[in-house]
Amino acid sequence: MAINKKSLTDQVYSMLKEKILNRDVDLGEQLNTREIAEEHGISLMPVRDALRRLANEDLVENRPRVGFFVKNFSEAEVNDILEVRKMHEIYCLDNYFEEIDRGVISDLKDKFENGHKKYFTSYDSKLHKEIVLASHNNYLIDSYLKMINHYTMLFSYLNYKRSETSRQEHIDLIDCILKGDKAKAEKILYRHLDRVKIAEDASIKNRA
Ligand code: NI
Repeated sequence: MAINKKSLTDQVYSMLKEKILNRDVDLGEQLNTREIAEEHGISLMPVRDALRRLANEDLVENRPRVGFFVKNFSEAEVNDILEVRKMHEIYCLDNYFEEIDRGVISDLKDKFENGHKKYFTSYDSKLHKEIVLASHNNYLIDSYLKMINHYTMLFSYLNYKRSETSRQEHIDLIDCILKGDKAKAEKILYRHLDRVKIAEDASIKNRA
């Protein structure tokens, strides 16, 4: 009995998480417990449990007596998240440059050049993650991965608009790593992350 209940919660959790990360629901949008339960022909309990789990991951906000909402971000929060992202990635590129898996990023270069545009966001996060994985420091990697979901929520719709510039930036970054040009790689990554910030600022304002 407990196992069945848990697996139902797991399924609702995965389904909602995917929706949130793919931006099928908007930032700040209410997630109606009853509607979700009715839509899938299940009871309220697993839906609530799934929503609570998403709230623990900070993807959903639980407002007591009001309901659950997809997390929204103020401009200040967006900038704070971006600063932490930059802190992780620049540090790892600087300190673990030699440890970055050349095989993995060569594959990614090929995907950036020849892969389908719709997978762009996933290549993008893979490349950035690979730089952090080079540290082989599980505490550092965990702290980065905790923020990854927020990056994904914020950037998935942005990447689409600036995909051509961004695609070339990623290819240039990979080339520098493969050539062993650390100074230039750092410059490109720094500028790339700042560009995301500027684009995001503009986009947040457009949405308001
Ligand atoms: Ni990127």
